[in-house]
Amino acid sequence: SAQATRYLQAHLRDVPDFPRPGILFKDITPLLAEPRAFHMTLDLLVHPFIGRQIDAVIAIESRGFLFGGALAARLNASLVPVRKAGKLPAAVDRVAYALEYGEAELEMHKGSLRPGAHVLIVDDVLATGGTAAAAATLARGQHAIVAGFAFVIELDALLGRSRLAHDGEAQVHALIHVTSP
Ligand code: PRP
Ligand code: MG
Repeated sequence: SAQATRYLQAHLRDVPDFPRPGILFKDITPLLAEPRAFHMTLDLLVHPFIGRQIDAVIAIESRGFLFGGALAARLNASLVPVRKAGKLPAAVDRVAYALEYGEAELEMHKGSLRPGAHVLIVDDVLATGGTAAAAATLARGQHAIVAGFAFVIELDALLGRSRLAHDGEAQVHALIHVTSP
């Protein structure tokens, strides 16, 4: 509801000039710190996926970990971490993705997903969509089906949602829309 969204929005802190001058950073730590707000966030994030087939939740390092683990437990699904390069110990699949400046890599352990598994990709923020799209590439590389994406915050002006469309199969779910440019 609009009321729930306003309640959650009130637990975000705007931090000017982080990580660089001119950027207004949306800080989720007040939301994490208030049990009622965190609980509501999890309830609302999971809601569209209750009763649907979700075999695995893919949580994206690092802020996606804060929500992905809790959602996997609620959905009785496997929890699969996607990590920044060099963090996972066993053999990995790797994908490069664009950052605002330069490039980075995400990795997932080989054999994390059964072919045909339905997965939900979870992160805190959808901005340009590069990070979530890279996680989807890793999932599809293991022949999984991306059933959906769940984000706490979507920065609408960056049009990340448009990068996540893939044959229209995946549902993109975001709780709080930041509409300022
Ligand atoms: C931030 C955020 C998302 C991503 C969104 O992560 O947590 O993962 O950027 O941006 P995009 O949609 O433009 O790809 P960041 O890479 O800053 O790392 P962190 O989660 O480890 O802080
Ligand atoms: Mg992140």
